Amino acid sequence: MLVLGIETSCDETGIALLDTKHGLLSHTLHSQVAMHSEYGGVVPELASRDHIRYILPLIQQTLLSANRTLSQINAIAYTQGPGLAGALLVGASVGAALSFALNIPAIGIHHLEGHLLSPLLSKPAPDFPFIALLVSGGHTQLMQVSAVGQYVLLGETVDDAAGEAFDKTAKLLGLGYPGGAALSKLAYQGQPGRFKLPRPMLNSKDLNFSFSGLKTAVLTLINKHELTSQTRADIALAFQDAIVEVLVEKSLTALSQTSIKQLIVAGGVGANNQLRDNLSTKAKLAGATVFYPELEFCTDNGAMIALAGALRLSIQENHTLLQPARSFTIQPRWNLAALSTIDHDSILKR
Ligand code: KG4
Ligand code: ZN
Repeated sequence: MLVLGIETSCDETGIALLDTKHGLLSHTLHSQVAMHSEYGGVVPELASRDHIRYILPLIQQTLLSANRTLSQINAIAYTQGPGLAGALLVGASVGAALSFALNIPAIGIHHLEGHLLSPLLSKPAPDFPFIALLVSGGHTQLMQVSAVGQYVLLGETVDDAAGEAFDKTAKLLGLGYPGGAALSKLAYQGQPGRFKLPRPMLNSKDLNFSFSGLKTAVLTLINKHELTSQTRADIALAFQDAIVEVLVEKSLTALSQTSIKQLIVAGGVGANNQLRDNLSTKAKLAGATVFYPELEFCTDNGAMIALAGALRLSIQENHTLLQPARSFTIQPRWNLAALSTIDHDSILKR
């Protein structure tokens, strides 16, 4: 079965063609980061317009590089939510229109389900069950993934997402937007131990996070010191040390609480080298393995949506879903737990 994946939930237009027998055939991405960086954040209206501009050329390019035609596609998976309403509408309307015109089924996918299943695109892939640390610009969550459609939220941020904290701190340090990668590069020049920032909620006994206080702590440091290039690097390192330690410790607690031995890291902050090094080392000591999807699958992409669509269609018992789309809806706010077929309370009580 050939599945076309369409991702347009935020500031990346991602398209992919996945063959359920032979794997990912091709995928393309257009990032709007350069366009939004001028404004210091994503401008929703500009995002929607840019998706409109790029979606059809990218579909054509993806088909061309896989040496396939529209008529060979068997199903369409598009991101139905959560995300920016206008941006979601572009992918959903194109997905539904193609489904109707080609007389093939279309399935709306939860964006975070795409992220959770994205490690299955890489080799070696984890087996079910695994713990997922989802760390992006909009989300910071620990989830237990027992099977396709069986997800339990173990903990999440009560305020800023990890990527958001990186971006806000980077802004305070005069780095561009989004600043996570730049901040982590700057941290390489930092002197270890010059500054120590708080580890929010490290001892909270649950698996929740809080990162908004960190940027305030950074601001206090900035106000107290002359901002030489060395001081900026030292602050960047102190911030990264704090956020990474909390992410690592909570991930290890999730592994030990569930007795699961596999952890996957998804989302843009998963690109952070200090996080990767510390997680891998500590998990190994605990007898667990960490899986990192390739960077291109870690951040938003169409391949994870095509994969989630293919997996969902393969377990779908309700055949009405296999009809071509006659209409479509989007869900800008959509709780992943609403998708899950698992009894949350029974898992959390174990
Ligand atoms: O998953 P993603 O591409 O987009 C969504 O938010 O959905 O994640 C982007 C986030 C941004 O906040 C960015 O600053 C952060 O990931 N990021 C990093 C690094 N690379 C990207 N944060 C820390 N270290 C990095 N190397
Ligand atoms: Zn995402």
